[in-house]
Amino acid sequence: MRKIVVAIDGPAAAGKSTVAKKVAKLLKCTYIDTGAMYRAITYFAIKSNVNPENEEDVVALLPQIDLILKPNGKVILNEEDVTQVIRTPAVSGNVSYVASYKAIRLHLVELQRKMASSISVVMDGRDIGTYVLPDADVKIFQVASVETRAYRRHKENLQHGIKCSLEDIEAELRKRDFIDSSRTFAPLKPASDSIILDTSDLTIDQAVEAVMKVVKDKGYDLESLNER
Ligand code: DC
Repeated sequence: MRKIVVAIDGPAAAGKSTVAKKVAKLLKCTYIDTGAMYRAITYFAIKSNVNPENEEDVVALLPQIDLILKPNGKVILNEEDVTQVIRTPAVSGNVSYVASYKAIRLHLVELQRKMASSISVVMDGRDIGTYVLPDADVKIFQVASVETRAYRRHKENLQHGIKCSLEDIEAELRKRDFIDSSRTFAPLKPASDSIILDTSDLTIDQAVEAVMKVVKDKGYDLESLNER
């Protein structure tokens, strides 16, 4: 039995979670969506009437937060299933502030490292290859043009019944890209040993295939990984 750790980083709405979930299924390992963790804390702040832009007040909420990522993808916050509600525009529009607070990051990074310590994982986020799991076996930095990302996110939101304009989504993505990549602690950037994967003109299956090729090129064969 061989363990594998795959890190998939990149800007918002680049299709990381879709690709990561499929790769995890092929590798028969656990998918971990770290963005959902920052989103859950943002949701809790809003629900608690705390301004997400107020670092001190958000950090003070940490002791009240019990966060669980279930293997089936459900996000449980203090026993409440928040899987859907953390995708709403109110959360998306504020999560970058919360994710820029060092104390919040240190708390979540500890949980993320614990989750990846003994099992094979595909983890997606912004700083997985650079900071959370710098020894990951495979590091992918998945990108797409901001126009493509806005189009995809808009379509996805409509499918989930979330109303929004394409222009607003593009503006929000640009704002999030800026905050995520300019924060001082563990910003969004490719690790020096990551493979850049531009999915602007790729289908989901082509993107998954490209990641699987990197896995194989690193010397992993599916049989030894799946023998568990
Ligand atoms: O992937 P996502 O859009 O659900 O992420 C939500 C926010 O969380 C995003 O704006 C950046 C932040 N994030 C982060 O800073 N580090 C991570 N490892 C994952 C997400």
